[in-house]
Amino acid sequence: MPLQLIQVGLGAHGLGVAQSDVLMAQDFTFCGIVDIDESRLRQASQLLQVEPAQCYTDYKTAFTQGGADAVYITAASPFHYDICKCALEENLHVLVEKPFVTEIDQGKELVAIAKRKGLKLMVDQNYRWVKSVLTLKREIGRQALGEPMFVDAKFFYSHEGKPYQRQMQDYMLFEMGIHHIDMMRFLFDENIHTVRGRTWNTPGSGYLGDPHVYAVYELDGGMPIFYIGSLLTQGLSSPWEGQWRVQCTKGSIHLDDLGAGYGVYLVNEVQEAAKVDDVIPKHESIRGVLAEFADAILHDRAPLSSGEDNLLTLAALNATSDSSRDGKACCPMDYLQ
Ligand SMILES: NC(=O)c1ccc[n+]([C@@H]2O[C@H](COP(=O)([O-])OP(=O)(O)OC[C@H]3O[C@@H](n4cnc5c(N)ncnc54)[C@H](O)[C@@H]3O)[C@@H](O)[C@H]2O)c1
Repeated sequence: MPLQLIQVGLGAHGLGVAQSDVLMAQDFTFCGIVDIDESRLRQASQLLQVEPAQCYTDYKTAFTQGGADAVYITAASPFHYDICKCALEENLHVLVEKPFVTEIDQGKELVAIAKRKGLKLMVDQNYRWVKSVLTLKREIGRQALGEPMFVDAKFFYSHEGKPYQRQMQDYMLFEMGIHHIDMMRFLFDENIHTVRGRTWNTPGSGYLGDPHVYAVYELDGGMPIFYIGSLLTQGLSSPWEGQWRVQCTKGSIHLDDLGAGYGVYLVNEVQEAAKVDDVIPKHESIRGVLAEFADAILHDRAPLSSGEDNLLTLAALNATSDSSRDGKACCPMDYLQ
């Protein structure tokens, strides 16, 4: 029997994943959809073939009347905390889009509620289920070119920000950098010990918060990752996962396009580059996330990328922001005391 799911937020991303991922997932079936925008809700009702009686403009009504097991929150980021809290209080398991929340104390509160009630709380860090990222992780682990010494990671994009994104305090960090910073933790199975960085804006950008960031993240084992990311760069853009160079003792591992398409390449001591075969996950990206969420519910275990785990990624974002403001190195763990 598939789990009964309510999805909240059917904007550009929400409607897209509802069609291409939720409808295709064998583990879930819609028992309700929610959006405060009635025209979007009508459009979604038709496209997803969800009965008008199962369409809601108010998420609390949906959570109390919809007969759901679980909620998938794809609403605009500033509303994640309120929607998530309401769903947990109504005893529903929650999968929430990144960023989980925008304030770390809110995240801690939600994690505590989920724990107290025995509910699953998972954050959609879907890059952990993307084949290029899984392939890079496999090659880092194989150590065919020796041990990693340092990493260079880049991301450049010209993004047309949503109205809510234009008002966010840390636009680049919380909307996009979050994927790459979570990748750092995932790729090396380590947490970030210290960060020193800077975020900044371009005058007249139309964004309240900063669209650019550079930072050095030092992992627990001491390895530095040099990161630059921007959502406001004309010209050549990066794939969403970014361009990575993992410098090892006997060569370099790249997630990039070194001539045979975007993917993972190994470059040895005599400059020979070879593209490696991709890891093929059973379910990719958000389908993988949905499968993991369902399995965690059915087997009563913590999901990968749980809310609790994601506090460490959120702490690294906060540490980057504070380092920029104060000009000092900051430790993410200090945010979790
Ligand atoms: N994981 C990924 O790769 C990925 C990619 C894109 C976006 N996202 C995330 O998905 C979320 C949505 O992004 P988007 O691009 O669809 O934004 P969007 O602005 O296009 O859509 C947001 C939707 O949320 C609805 N909404 C806002 N408040 C609501 C409320 N209280 N109740 C119900 N509906 C409400 C809006 O009416 C709108 O339809 C964001 O958190 C974003 O960061 C994740």
